[in-house]
Amino acid sequence: MLKEEKINFIKENNLSKREILNYLIDDLVELNLNKKLSIKTILKLLEEKIGITYNYDVLARKIKEAKEEQITDDKIRIIAIVNFKGGVGKSTIANLIDIKDSIILNIDNTQDAKKINSIETYNYIDLLNEYGISSLEEIILGAKESGKKTIIIDTPGEINDIFLDILPEIDFFIVPFTIGDRSEEATISTIQTLNTILDDNENRKDKWCLVLNKYLLEDHLKELDLVFEESKKILGDRLVCKSSLKQSLVIPTIEKKKKTINELIKDNAIAYGAFKAKVKNLNKEIKSHIGVK
Ligand SMILES: Nc1ncnc2c1ncn2[C@@H]1O[C@H](COP(=O)(O)OP(=O)(O)OP(=O)(O)O)[C@@H](O)[C@H]1O
Ligand SMILES: [Mg+2]
Repeated sequence: MLKEEKINFIKENNLSKREILNYLIDDLVELNLNKKLSIKTILKLLEEKIGITYNYDVLARKIKEAKEEQITDDKIRIIAIVNFKGGVGKSTIANLIDIKDSIILNIDNTQDAKKINSIETYNYIDLLNEYGISSLEEIILGAKESGKKTIIIDTPGEINDIFLDILPEIDFFIVPFTIGDRSEEATISTIQTLNTILDDNENRKDKWCLVLNKYLLEDHLKELDLVFEESKKILGDRLVCKSSLKQSLVIPTIEKKKKTINELIKDNAIAYGAFKAKVKNLNKEIKSHIGVK
């Protein structure tokens, strides 16, 4: 029930009612969640063991909040980088999102995961062929068990089986696009297609972010506003952010040298710093909407 040593600690340390509640909250959630004790029973238990009475609503709210926190803490966040148009920077942006305890899962079976950063990358096809990991549940479980919190999915230019499987689980979509070469039309069409499939799902919780990539002039940002307005007509409130990343020579240069961004710091600290500054904004924007620091 309640651990003897905790009860002793409370008695010996003259804690306030609030401090006691904070000290015991994980145990109380456990009693409520796993041992299925009602709030009333927990109230009684606290009175018997520690001699303290709490208001029912206060305790119920505290346990509910702590439960929600535990659940979100436990849940793996899934972010997908999507656009059926090739070459818009999906794999590049997957590498540039800087979220703690994240990995990239490449589900494009025709190419290897791109690695231009220190983030761990996995090819779905290798997990399947070499380790027999064949379902999304297994991947999520594996990620969770090894302490990962976020899976960033790099997607191909079409919907394959694994993409379809993952689609309802995706919390956050990032849609990079570029200017010209019919990229804007392809972007809207991608959003339309995915949104139609997702609409079958009653408990949709997905949020979206548009990223204008490889632009050159400030004037090009107007295009981002236009595509944002068009996308809003499809996604409504689910479209929560827009961001941008300028064309940068650093990306092709490190690709050519087969280096990662972090290795660039040894080659050229100025170029490294200038690039980091560019990516910082993109990350700030995206992360504030995903809810991570
Ligand atoms: N901001 C940028 N500045 C300069 N070059 C960039 C930028 N973003 C991407 N690139 C370049 O554009 C090319 C395409 O990028 P990337 O491979 O990330 O696109 P993709 O959408 O993943 O393509 P695919 O559909 O083939 O998977 C790469 O060679 C990359 O170097
Ligand atoms: Mg790619």
